[in-house]
Amino acid sequence: MNSINHVAIIMDGNGRWGLKRNKSRNFGHRAGLVTVENIIKHTIKKKIKYLTLFAFSTENWKRPKKEIKFLFSLLEEFIIKKLDVFQKEDIKLKIIGSKIKLKKIESILNKAQKKTNNNKRLQINLALNYGSKNEIIDSVKKLIKNKEIINIKNIDKNLYTKFIPKPDILIRTGNTHRVSNFLLWQIAYTEIYFEKKLWPDFKVKDYDRIINDFKNVKRNYGNI
Ligand code: FPP
Repeated sequence: MNSINHVAIIMDGNGRWGLKRNKSRNFGHRAGLVTVENIIKHTIKKKIKYLTLFAFSTENWKRPKKEIKFLFSLLEEFIIKKLDVFQKEDIKLKIIGSKIKLKKIESILNKAQKKTNNNKRLQINLALNYGSKNEIIDSVKKLIKNKEIINIKNIDKNLYTKFIPKPDILIRTGNTHRVSNFLLWQIAYTEIYFEKKLWPDFKVKDYDRIINDFKNVKRNYGNI
């Protein structure tokens, strides 16, 4: 039976969820936050050590200003509200992504990461202003600059995820079958689950179904 160390999630479908209810896309984003909280709780319960959440991509800047502003205010509210809970629950918060363009919330992000740095029960990697292609290019550039050999081990050690094991499971909700520039290097041998449900409709029982399915998957890593 496979053990699960790391789950990564593309939380897609918030906007559509809001619009389906004749409300705004932002209404959907707020509902998505409830799912985030439930999934974090269940990840702890299942003793999974790493949870990576795609909160904002380098491509999401193309969205209307109003939506971007709302997403960042939601994020700020979430971190401020949850910081004590993270401390109490022994949760470490790590931001992965490019720091450029995150100046406004940099101090709160740094504070949260510093405060939770020694926590051990669960590490939440929040992908913010994250783009996988740039992450790989930056890693290779560093190797060239330092005159190091370009190989798998060295590319790995310069990624945002350098101390994080590769995801066992990638979940994308929202009935879309793509990976949208998320962890392209890291998911080479990850089991991918595309879920029909929109993120705010994704429940703990759906998460459990995936976890249970994964346990019995035969992972070959190129072998037979
Ligand atoms: C994708 O749905 C979701 C996002 C781009 C943002 C995800 C944000 C949250 C779940 C809330 C904040 C999260 C944290 C961790 C603070 P979409 O807008 O692309 O939906 P659509 O496909 O229906 O348009």
